[in-house]
Amino acid sequence: MKLSTKHLLGIKDLTKEDIQLILSTAEQFKEVLQRPVKKVPSLRDVTIVNLFYENSTRTRMSFELAERRLSADVLNFTASSSSAAKGETLLDTVNNILSMKVDMVVMRHSASGAPHFLAKHIPAAIVNAGDGINEHPTQALLDAFSMREKLGKLEGLKVAIIGDIMHSRVALSNMYLLRKMGAEILVVGPPTLIPKYISEALGVRVTYNLQEALKWCDVANVLRIQLERQNQPLFSSLREYNLAYGIKRKMLENLGKEIVIMHPGPINRGVELDSDVADGPYSIILNQVENGVAVRMAALYLLAGRES
Ligand code: CP
Repeated sequence: MKLSTKHLLGIKDLTKEDIQLILSTAEQFKEVLQRPVKKVPSLRDVTIVNLFYENSTRTRMSFELAERRLSADVLNFTASSSSAAKGETLLDTVNNILSMKVDMVVMRHSASGAPHFLAKHIPAAIVNAGDGINEHPTQALLDAFSMREKLGKLEGLKVAIIGDIMHSRVALSNMYLLRKMGAEILVVGPPTLIPKYISEALGVRVTYNLQEALKWCDVANVLRIQLERQNQPLFSSLREYNLAYGIKRKMLENLGKEIVIMHPGPINRGVELDSDVADGPYSIILNQVENGVAVRMAALYLLAGRES
């Protein structure tokens, strides 16, 4: 089976079958990653550039490791140490890189739509590694993989997405994906961090009450407060945010049921999550990071036209 799309720009563009194909291919790569030799020759004829115009720890390292595990040739570009800092345009930068015979571009950019712009102007396959407040498709895919691995299904799963919904590309990609796969979604946070009309636009329920959400959900996907994307304060203080929406260990113990805590990272400890939750038995945060490598291997393998 093959993907229906040349690029991975967002979950919005994927079919349910595409998502199932990436997740099942990722299962095979997860098995590869348990072997003593964690490498396959699948993309040894492919060259990939990781083009990062915005900071990253997990996504960047995870893509690079996925590419190397697939035996691809890898180039890394960091905007701050490149000629972009001298004023070179995105298109000029990419065309110069492509003239060195690069087949695929993995790109993170602070401008929503930057990878979509590139896809219209260059022949290489583009993978969106996070664009502004728009989408972060491989994060949603690794989140789905991790939920399914932990709880055995996505269809009918009750997922609460908690926190800074307004500025979160992780939230939007998760909402698209979980809707396509038949999960139920409840978004939770202060009214100033939840876009108006989100229910009508995306088919999700909204609550401003954290306790109600925790009682209802099987999975709580907790988001980072993205102060760098807020031009003006949208809540009174981080301390008050933590009092109203921070997840505390006692809260989870008092629920008297199983609950899975997820977070895309980086965590603001003591703001959206207390440390004994992030590092405790309910958390699968490091499993998400581990699964990111297999999921990105699957996405790159399929986008290179290989069949599963
Ligand atoms: N989850 C995520 O995108 O983390 P990084 O910003 O560290 O890549």
